[in-house]
Amino acid sequence: MDILLLNGPNLNMLGTREPEQYGVQTLDDIVARISALATDAGLSIEHHQDNSEAGLIDKVHAASKNGTKYIIINPAAFTHTSVALRDAMLATDIAFTEVHLSNVYKREAFRKQSYFSDIAEGVISGFGAQGYEFALDAAITYIKEH
Ligand code: DQA
Repeated sequence: MDILLLNGPNLNMLGTREPEQYGVQTLDDIVARISALATDAGLSIEHHQDNSEAGLIDKVHAASKNGTKYIIINPAAFTHTSVALRDAMLATDIAFTEVHLSNVYKREAFRKQSYFSDIAEGVISGFGAQGYEFALDAAITYIKEH
């Protein structure tokens, strides 16, 4: 697998969850678009959404064994809480982009703290579903260059 797309808790509710914050596209819509774009670029992609920390951590561990070249991750609320998921990213040492649909810097103070930003290749926040496309572009470039 070239790219692993990971989405954290409550992102399965996209489409109906706080649409003013997260938009009206469902996660299936977003994944279908990103998967098609990755395939067009000649890259394989796997998607996994999980509401539990353990499920996300297990996927990151698996990525280190199956040749994954890049991870695009929206850790959702775990962004602000999860030392365990941060440690998993550090343990696997796969380059990754942190994505947020909303601009977390425009919101509550606790959302400004991320356990991932300082170890990510880059962070995309506030561009809605399009943020995943930007992240895919960055992943394609990274994979070509490494
Ligand atoms: C989010 C922002 C987080 O603060 C929040 O907990 C989410 C979604 C985003 O995509 O904007 O669940 O990661």
